[in-house]
Amino acid sequence: MAAPPHVVLIGLPGSGKTTVGGRLAKQLSRPFLDFDEEIERREGKPVSRIFADRGEAYFRTLERRLTEELRDARGGMVLAPGGGWVTVPRVVEMLRPPAAVIYLAARPETVLARMGRELSRRPLLAKGEADGDPLVAIDRLFTERGARYEAVADLVIDTEQFDAQGVTDQAVAWLSLFEGNSVMPGGM
Ligand code: S3P
Repeated sequence: MAAPPHVVLIGLPGSGKTTVGGRLAKQLSRPFLDFDEEIERREGKPVSRIFADRGEAYFRTLERRLTEELRDARGGMVLAPGGGWVTVPRVVEMLRPPAAVIYLAARPETVLARMGRELSRRPLLAKGEADGDPLVAIDRLFTERGARYEAVADLVIDTEQFDAQGVTDQAVAWLSLFEGNSVMPGGM
């Protein structure tokens, strides 16, 4: 049987892409790939180090290459690219269609609160950016990207309204329609 298309979760850092992606993959019995984790594994260093050593443009090239691989791979994966992936020219179009793109929407204040100490792992939000105020930095990303997230999404989930499991359940319910009822949660 043909694999269903990839499911791609997009949104700001801290919007829950990794958490929801893991749950979604488990619930759908599909493989999960977190872009940052995969890139860190391949490069042998954390994303913050890649930014420091090679710069953002190099990191974006790695995101693009990984996307090319996934385009050419069999579908059926749950993918969580980093928050800036949608800004890399043409990458969204490499996967969609046929991929289903789900935007996990959240206010800058909310994602900031969710990230907590994880903030230091995000080079674009770490100290030194936007006069050292992470809310200013995340506000800026939201202003730059909010419209793009919405424009490329097949579904927007307002994550302010639900916990991680609630968001996952919404995604599963919608995917069963998107994929023409071919989704079988829990690997049934
Ligand atoms: C980035 C988000 C990060 C990571 C990198 C750049 C961004 O991923 O890819 O630090 O440009 O928003 P998360 O969205 O998983 O934090």
